[in-house]
Amino acid sequence: MFPVWEVPNIGSGWVIGLIAVLHVFISHFAIGGGAFLAFTEQLAYKKNDDRIYDYLKKHSKFFLLLTTVLGAMSGVGIWWAIGLASPNGTQTLLQNFSLFWAVEYIFFALELATFLAYYYTWDKLDRKTHLKLAWIYIGISYFTLFAINGILTFMLNSGGWDFTKGNIGDAFFNPSFWPALGLRMFIMMALAGIYAFFTLSREKTMDLDVKAYLLKYSAKWLLPAVILGPLFVIAYLFTLPEPTQQVIINGLSTIGVGNFSIMAKAIFMTMVFAVGLFGMVLAGPYLNPRAFNTSFAVMLLAAGFGFMFTEEWSREMMRKPYVVYNYMYSNGLRKFEVDKVNKEGFFNHHKFAGAELTTLKPNDELGKGQLMFRYQCTSCHTAKGNGYRSMKVMLATRDKDAIKNLLTMMKENHIVDNKGVAKTMYHGYMPPVVGHQDEIDALATYLATLNSDPAKTTTAKVESSNS
Ligand code: HEC
Repeated sequence: MFPVWEVPNIGSGWVIGLIAVLHVFISHFAIGGGAFLAFTEQLAYKKNDDRIYDYLKKHSKFFLLLTTVLGAMSGVGIWWAIGLASPNGTQTLLQNFSLFWAVEYIFFALELATFLAYYYTWDKLDRKTHLKLAWIYIGISYFTLFAINGILTFMLNSGGWDFTKGNIGDAFFNPSFWPALGLRMFIMMALAGIYAFFTLSREKTMDLDVKAYLLKYSAKWLLPAVILGPLFVIAYLFTLPEPTQQVIINGLSTIGVGNFSIMAKAIFMTMVFAVGLFGMVLAGPYLNPRAFNTSFAVMLLAAGFGFMFTEEWSREMMRKPYVVYNYMYSNGLRKFEVDKVNKEGFFNHHKFAGAELTTLKPNDELGKGQLMFRYQCTSCHTAKGNGYRSMKVMLATRDKDAIKNLLTMMKENHIVDNKGVAKTMYHGYMPPVVGHQDEIDALATYLATLNSDPAKTTTAKVESSNS
């Protein structure tokens, strides 16, 4: 267990989220865009069309700058952010997957080297050999996805994998591995098309027929995502653990009764972006390539970013309350330790929290409650203000008794039925609160000072205000 990194207002989760989505938006292009270069160069070669070659040279410069500067920097940024925000989760993944990460790293270095070779040999190598470099780049860059995909899907579905004596290959090739790999591949191809719209829109001197042709051609790169994407999404959802599927089904089936759960919101927004993006591509570069301009291209990039954002957000929601499914909760608590911590007490169990507690005055209830909050809740909530799932907003006007009720329910979160579905509704998102009763009472005391209207508190029933 490690100390907690508290980020005011946005919460540490958003720091990871923002860096990660930027990285995903560029790194998926780094692979799909590589395939785009290879296939389009092949096309130029077959047609023997210098105008397409000229465009590709410029496109590959944009590609080089974007992927090596922003792409690589944001990749390092992810390590920085997850190490600070989720040290326990990062440690678990590193211990299990160091080999895979090492291999990925080697391939990443090879990927960069191949691309530099490709970029600097336009017009220097004969066309056939130059094209070969593009194919080599596809193979190598695709492998980096292959390696990271096993780790990402494992976090969502560790299956029945045994952390002490399981075979790491089983963890890597977990049930969600293949559908997720397919899905990411389609997203990459779609992004390759969307980025190509942008560089094409910047072509001021290009022959208009060639430009229209290439815009239509680039639009077709979205087709696999449109046709096969939904099938793979369904296949993917079927490979998720049953409790996760339950949360999704419950979320979607209660929209009708006006209860828009956070999970349903994330999935709904992803669909809106996907359909909107497809409609815009159809109406713009595909059907009206001659009217296409840079503002439209930027709108498409923004919609693509919106899609990636909501898609990654949905994936994140599906994983909650875990950072590693069924093993470690988002706040670093290991599932198998819950009973032990309840018996030992939270501060006796957690070294750093315990050390911080000794710096407080004796009987400082508020301070103790604040520490409980910091260690058990800030991975997903902020305390004050109107920021990231702020307690002030979420507690509304609940008084201490109502808060105590809520915490009692949260304590039982890990008690599940034989299908693995929790008895209380909070299980879908939140880990159980752990600790001795006096520690949990201190948390309630602290939370009661955060509600938005401490003067006029009501004992609203916790069940009725779930949103
Ligand atoms: C793994 C992430 C996670 C952790 C850790 C977590 N929560 Fe939550 N919490 C959520 C999510 C997600 C929601 C639902 C948000 C929504 O519906 O917009 C939520 C909702 C809530 C609500 C509002 C529920 C309602 O009935 O209105 C309260 C209160 C709350 N959390 C308190 C806590 C406290 C106290 C802790 C620490 C003991 C905690 N949470 C830890 C993710 C988490």
